[in-house]
Amino acid sequence: MKVLEAKFVQGFIRMCNDGWEQGWHERNGGNLTYRMKKEEAESIKAELRTDSVWKEIGTSVPKLAGEFFLVTGSGKYFRNVMLDPEDSIAVVEIDGKGECYRICWGLVNGGRPTSELPSHLMNHEVKMQATGGKHRVIYHAHTTNVIALTFVLPLEDEVFTRELWEMATECPVVFPDGIGVVGWMVPGGRDIAVATSELMKKYDVAIWAHHGMFASGEDFDLTFGLMHTVEKSAEILVKMLSMRPDKLQTITPQNFRDLAVDFQVTLPERFLYEK
Ligand code: 13P
Ligand code: ZN
Repeated sequence: MKVLEAKFVQGFIRMCNDGWEQGWHERNGGNLTYRMKKEEAESIKAELRTDSVWKEIGTSVPKLAGEFFLVTGSGKYFRNVMLDPEDSIAVVEIDGKGECYRICWGLVNGGRPTSELPSHLMNHEVKMQATGGKHRVIYHAHTTNVIALTFVLPLEDEVFTRELWEMATECPVVFPDGIGVVGWMVPGGRDIAVATSELMKKYDVAIWAHHGMFASGEDFDLTFGLMHTVEKSAEILVKMLSMRPDKLQTITPQNFRDLAVDFQVTLPERFLYEK
């Protein structure tokens, strides 16, 4: 099968465009990676190169040895992915040690995978283990309202989780485990990858202060939907804070406990503190 005809490739391209339309991907902002199923890699193998050079990932992901990923390119614009996917995205293979990658398809005009590859792959490794292989998508977006909130809320998991849960009734059902927060760090390297993947052991969402968000999920719909839900909740909070600094009424800790029973989710008590 042709790479561009594969359903997972089309889903990947559509998700890039959806993110662009949301306004989360100015210039080359944001990146997306997908861990391919064995049969998906097999289905496009005829078109994959095996002669490109192995390059260092910049971190070590031994549990991802031999996996194939679909990734956005560094410096590539999400708005161009749908128009010219072969220029903007790539299929990469991870070597037997989980230390190097090589480009097997795409990036036809040169380039390399996203500069956030260390964070993506370390998150993939953690989430693959934590979910028994179910999670396959890692998505980084420059979500406007979440970024704005990182200037005015304390950079604490408990505060972000609780404030965002309060802004929309469905939020605790969509992200019951909560949200982690990483203070400002230099992007693109191993240190921020380690900090983010540490949070991904507990959460499906991590916020990078003054930068954006990372989300993990099983497929494109769930991962995009998760990013969208968190960012929409942040938009409501920004609007609320712009109208008045305090709330006249809100969803209470007991309301959350009642919701948890009916919707059969477990909401950790550490997020249901008295204010
Ligand atoms: P890339 O263009 O290398 O993917 O970087 C964009 C970005 O958002 C960095 O955090
Ligand atoms: Zn970024």
